[in-house]
Amino acid sequence: MTHFDSTAGSPGQIRFFNPGPVWVRPQVMQALTGPMLSHRSQAFMDLYGRIQGKLPKVFRTARMAHTLATSATGVWESALISCVEGPVLSLCNGAFSDKWGEMATRMGLEADILKFEWGQAVPADAVKKKLAEKKYAAVTVVHSETSTGVLSDLAAIAKVVRENSDALVFADAVTSLAGTQVETDAWGLDVVLTGSQKAFALPPGLALFAVSERAMTAAKKKKFRGLYLDLVDVEAFAAKKQTPTTPCLPLLYALDVQLDHILAEGVENRWARHAAMRKTIEDWSAKHGFRVFAEAGAHSPTVTSLIPPEGVNAEELNKALKAMKWTTGSGYGKLKATNVRIGHMGDVDVASVESYLKAHEEAIAAMRSRAGSPA
Ligand SMILES: Cc1ncc(COP(=O)(O)O)c(C=O)c1O
Repeated sequence: MTHFDSTAGSPGQIRFFNPGPVWVRPQVMQALTGPMLSHRSQAFMDLYGRIQGKLPKVFRTARMAHTLATSATGVWESALISCVEGPVLSLCNGAFSDKWGEMATRMGLEADILKFEWGQAVPADAVKKKLAEKKYAAVTVVHSETSTGVLSDLAAIAKVVRENSDALVFADAVTSLAGTQVETDAWGLDVVLTGSQKAFALPPGLALFAVSERAMTAAKKKKFRGLYLDLVDVEAFAAKKQTPTTPCLPLLYALDVQLDHILAEGVENRWARHAAMRKTIEDWSAKHGFRVFAEAGAHSPTVTSLIPPEGVNAEELNKALKAMKWTTGSGYGKLKATNVRIGHMGDVDVASVESYLKAHEEAIAAMRSRAGSPA
């Protein structure tokens, strides 16, 4: 196996810890080779109907959940173009939340950016304060900031928005959904989205999302919604067990198979396994002098950004791990030189994480011995 092989390995032996795309089970890869079908055929509607029966259970919604042949970013744009007329409040505490705010600006919307330090979770009370100043059509928030490994309290933020405004809640759950608790209906999320290549543990290329009744009502009132990303069309076609445009059929075969796997594991059990991987990393970090970059109490269960101990160069450590045939993530953006980042989501397990952390110890020992200092 090489460190570029995202399917090699089995539980306990996985060596692929990229923060997305993630390791994909061989059974899922095999499912990609299903036969080509017309997406207007009964066979397709049977496939999509099966997916529609299962996907809402992962999103925890009584409504439909959808797919679009875009990466997750497509649904950021879809939510904005379909539903929003009026100012947008973007809660920004890392690279991805920044980018969603930038998107709103680039689309010509009046976007107010509420900035927080990298490493900090979005505090619900600051959102409440901001909402008192102005009326917003929508609030964008990233649940698990992949750039920093911070998990914000999405339930609390959504509650504050609901209780203090009429704004729609647009939640990026790209590195949280299927890896930790996300409650579309119970938390009152209006558009909640993820990408196939994260905790769903599928290959990249498919966006998965749910849309509330409220968001659909707003969309139906909006005159210009574009075409490819129009949520009204998406929902109308979904009612016929179809997609408005040609779907990414191989990924839908894979999704059908993977949903069986996720539901057999149990959604809550999946959250618990991710929490156990986070705990493994937290305990190991404390023991080996690494510092979790995210503030205490806000560590993501799916991605961890770590600051190595004094004297250990993050970039050299990453290089050493790659040479040992582990796929790792480097610190994101401005954290590249100072942090290492571990993606621990999807179908990876605690035993594999433990082996990976052991590899960090070996790499550091080798680096120190090369430098002539005691390991
Ligand atoms: C939190 C978050 N949001 C959005 C994205 C963008 O996803 P995509 O590249 O699938 O469009 C990513 C990608 O890593 C992400 O981590």
